[in-house]
Amino acid sequence: MKIKTARFIISNTDLEKCPPPVLPEFAFIGRSNVGKSSLINMLTDQNKLAKISARPGKTQCINHFLINEKWYLVDLPGYGYARNSKEDRDKFESFISEYILTRESLKCLFVLIDSRLKMQKIDKEFISWLGTSQIPFALIFTKTDKLNKKQLKENIALYKEELLKTWDELPQILYSSSLAKLGREDILSYIGDILQ
Ligand code: GTP
Ligand code: MG
Repeated sequence: MKIKTARFIISNTDLEKCPPPVLPEFAFIGRSNVGKSSLINMLTDQNKLAKISARPGKTQCINHFLINEKWYLVDLPGYGYARNSKEDRDKFESFISEYILTRESLKCLFVLIDSRLKMQKIDKEFISWLGTSQIPFALIFTKTDKLNKKQLKENIALYKEELLKTWDELPQILYSSSLAKLGREDILSYIGDILQ
């Protein structure tokens, strides 16, 4: 799968204003600051397509990027970070869950996990919710440049062990470093297989 063109289409919190659900799409979710927007830039080979920040809570809306004029990459806000009041956070989360549960053109939700961390409660709960809601998803372990090979292997082994406590089978697992530009081909080929 080669990305020839990538362009921003629309950013909003209103599902009705998203592009009509006729083209397949792939969305990125995970805790704030895990590297969702950076990964979209790395995959599309554009520095400034998705907005990134060292401070969590940068992406606040659902952002559609049209790829090769045929399918979408979707940048979503992170979870687990409350910029405002609890009420605001709940509202903020409800449009994301509505998007995930109702978007009929969503082919796969990539759940990004910081490869440096043990399984976080919020990720565990989120992944279980995807399971019960029967949402197709894959995991991407991000920021792999921050670990050496041995540490990465150990962390992933622990993570898989944790997953197998509640899942019979492991989901698809991918790796990325937006800084070192690693994982691009594997992720794009995974998307390419689904698009076929
Ligand atoms: P929110 O939109 O706030 O939910 O965050 P996000 O998940 O979109 O993260 P974003 O891409 O904005 O990146 C957060 C920070 O992590 C930025 O400072 C990035 O430069 C950094 N970062 C992202 N990916 C990588 C990576 O692969 N390696 C390293 N070392 N840093 C990364
Ligand atoms: Mg972001």
